[in-house]
Amino acid sequence: MSAPPQTRRICTSIEIQMNTYRIAVIAGDGIGQEVIPAGIEIITAAAVQHGFRCEFTEFPWGSEFYLRTGRMLDTDAVDQLMKFDAIYLGAIGDPRVPDHVTARELILPLRQRLRQYVNLRPMRLLPGITSPLAGRTAADIDMVCVRENSEGEYCGIGGRLHSGTPDELAQQTGIFTRRGIERIARYGFALARTRPRKLVASATKSNALQHAMVMWDEVVAEVAAEFPDVTCRKYHVDAIAARMITHPQTLDVILASNLFGDILTDIGSAISGSLGVGPSGNINPDRTTPSMFEPIHGSAPDIAGQGVANPIAAIWAGAMMLDHLGERAAHDAILRAIERVIGDERVKTPDLGGRATTAEMTTAVRARLQPQAA
Ligand code: NAI
Ligand code: MG
Repeated sequence: MSAPPQTRRICTSIEIQMNTYRIAVIAGDGIGQEVIPAGIEIITAAAVQHGFRCEFTEFPWGSEFYLRTGRMLDTDAVDQLMKFDAIYLGAIGDPRVPDHVTARELILPLRQRLRQYVNLRPMRLLPGITSPLAGRTAADIDMVCVRENSEGEYCGIGGRLHSGTPDELAQQTGIFTRRGIERIARYGFALARTRPRKLVASATKSNALQHAMVMWDEVVAEVAAEFPDVTCRKYHVDAIAARMITHPQTLDVILASNLFGDILTDIGSAISGSLGVGPSGNINPDRTTPSMFEPIHGSAPDIAGQGVANPIAAIWAGAMMLDHLGERAAHDAILRAIERVIGDERVKTPDLGGRATTAEMTTAVRARLQPQAA
């Protein structure tokens, strides 16, 4: 067993009648160690302003832990995490550990065992960031991907036979269930209903994947009938990938399977100007287990340790966590502060074409959190 995690209490002077949220922190590897403290600083400042408390408990899990112990997580990690209201995750990945070990032994089991069946990924071009798509402005790129996060192509079922011989074979099975498709579709349509354009684009590939994706289309169509005020169109996933580049303004909520959503959201991040901006929530809408919030990006070994990682994705993920916990006003305040920093040319990290450090960007967001800040 590892040493017991350290709990850092962030308290304001008023101890009574204040909502307190217990947050498990897994900063993880590489720039996860740099952007998660930035997020904690902003969450804490927002908590003070909005009259609630967050108690952060840090867990040392990740690649360093693996190199020391042979495991990515404690064996009872899920039981430990069940005691928390939410999980705040940095990034997991290290050149010394194969990526399938880090993903399959930490990120994917947590998503699956904590039944976080929704992966919610907003993809917006914030005013002030130049998209690699010529001539596109913030009005053109405002979409959110609702990605199935518990089954599909990433269910982990399969195996290898005759390893290292000419007869070697590998089988990787996708599992799609009616229940799994129904619940993710319902989440997507309910979300679309709250957005001005009320559009759902369902990513399919039923021309080639005649079993799973035909069922996906059927179940999505059934759920669509429950939401007559939402317009639903299905697109083959390759076509939607192209559409994100050529006609991003036509997309609002993108409903996608686990693999398709993973790929499409990297396109979404890229056209939003930088991987350093996009947040992500692994959500269990039933709230029987803690949900987990993280930046979309990875551990960025190429810039780790330099203090120049863009903290916006982690800060935005922290804001999504507060929204999930019921602190909508704090979420909105953090988002406004992010928009003000990004909209103002002065403070930008190198990925956005500037020279600011992680700390400078975080300080700028914090300064603009003040209600009177412009
Ligand atoms: P990556 O997202 O770590 O980096 C891709 C590129 O984007 C790099 O050039 C990096 O410097 C840049 N970048 C990413 N985040 C940035 C930020 N906040 N500020 C400025 N620049 C940023 O993806 P990559 O290189 O494919 O993977 C590196 C490691 O991270 C691998 O081990 C991979 O498995 C892991 N990974 C982990 C994820 C997670 O924890 N959920 C997600 C994606 C990758
Ligand atoms: Mg990905």
